[in-house]
Amino acid sequence: MPEPTIKSDAHRDPLANWNGALMPLSEVKVSVLDRAFLFGDAIYEVIRIYGGRPFLFEDHVARLGRNLEKLNLPADAEAIAGRTRETIAASDVVEGIVYIQVTRGVAPRTHQFPVPAPQPNELIYVADFKDPYVSVRQQGVSVIVVDDMRWKRCDIKSVNLLANCMAAQAACEAECAEALFVDGNGRLTEGSRSSLFGVRNGTILTAPLRENILPGITRKLLMQLAEECDFPMREEALHLDNLSEIDELFLTGTTTEILPITLVDQRKIGTGTSGPIATKLYDAYKKTVDQLATTTG
Ligand code: PDD
Repeated sequence: MPEPTIKSDAHRDPLANWNGALMPLSEVKVSVLDRAFLFGDAIYEVIRIYGGRPFLFEDHVARLGRNLEKLNLPADAEAIAGRTRETIAASDVVEGIVYIQVTRGVAPRTHQFPVPAPQPNELIYVADFKDPYVSVRQQGVSVIVVDDMRWKRCDIKSVNLLANCMAAQAACEAECAEALFVDGNGRLTEGSRSSLFGVRNGTILTAPLRENILPGITRKLLMQLAEECDFPMREEALHLDNLSEIDELFLTGTTTEILPITLVDQRKIGTGTSGPIATKLYDAYKKTVDQLATTTG
């Protein structure tokens, strides 16, 4: 007889909001003619929930709104924000994530955007999520470097993530936590699902916001925290050839938080342990999370 399936809390069916209707995620049905399925014609957001509240919510909603505009998608970010809050409230998720995806909707398959514009499909779901890096955050993680073979509009948070998935898979096969993208000029852009920071002679460095990286919400918070901690900071891309000059390296992201890197392609960064600046910034990050519990709304 087969073993009975044990449904642990971590794998329970997330609560979804599909075009305004609440339902279990497993019950959401979508047409194969949805342009997200055919063309990847959709954008998304991932937002962390701490203590039942969405973290950095306004920033995520603002980025969602900018992406809707960039792709001329006729959906209303504020209405989605309201629905997201309702879905979080209707769920009993305490530590989790909200996933939001807006697609151009269902239409006969043509490459150009259909006229008249179809009704966008709006998916929100709220799922349990626990820090996957809790046991390694102090000692730091290993990463690999892969060619940045993504398209030239990585500033748009689209669901076209095949290059990111391939990079993450390569990292996984190398038993590494993340893959860093390097462009044709040897500049490190970002991770497959995270932003990248380094520290050289006490100054924090990160690639400037251009169309080749995602404007990370955690990246923005990190820059604010660095300022509050009086750490000098400059938007300057790190160079693969100059990693020996780097004292600390770390990733930031919604699901990553702040994660020190100690090995890049087996090469030691700094002393090979997590550095004091990343540690201080992670403490400041945690304080910001704690403040969420005392805010209203
Ligand atoms: N990824 N860069 C890329 C390519 C990303 O996919 C992400 C986030 C980030 C960090 O952005 P933020 O701080 O706004 O999360 C940077 C999300 C979490 C994901 O795809 O699951």
